Amino acid sequence: MSKPMRVLFVCLGNICRSPLAEIIVHGQAGKKDLSGQFIFASAGTGDWHVGGLADARSAQTAAQHGLDLSGHRAQQITANKVSNWDWFVAMDDDNRSNLLAMGVPKNRLLMMRQFETNSDMTLDVPDPYYGGADGFEDAYQMLSDNADDLLDYLLEQGA
Ligand code: 4NP
Repeated sequence: MSKPMRVLFVCLGNICRSPLAEIIVHGQAGKKDLSGQFIFASAGTGDWHVGGLADARSAQTAAQHGLDLSGHRAQQITANKVSNWDWFVAMDDDNRSNLLAMGVPKNRLLMMRQFETNSDMTLDVPDPYYGGADGFEDAYQMLSDNADDLLDYLLEQGA
């Protein structure tokens, strides 16, 4: 059995989008009996919320879909931690730029919504932090729509 692939979902604050991405993709991997092949986590490029809980709106959205975010504690990704991960999955283009600036190799950096498009255009999971509850449900749908394709891609690529 090969070593599990270490996959980090990344947004800005690690309280809204990336914790949801982590728990959705983790749940989907479990349903497919793939849990042993992956280690999933999430982090923010910013440090404002380090140690804090997921945003209550993200936790509520997760709960409405049967997922529990109560154990989440926000963490920050920094240049000295890049080598801890095999793959990085950015929620938006700013996250991607910040990760590249930290030294994340381009060929290890995916966009969460890259599987929805055949063009070079990047599709963002928009930041729902300053909006209403709708934005969190929209984010949930975008994340779950891409979870299977992301897992398939990672399995094809390997660690
Ligand atoms: P996230 O959302 O990047 O999806 O976790 C945000 C959370 C907090 C802030 C911005 C975005 N903030 O400015 O504190």
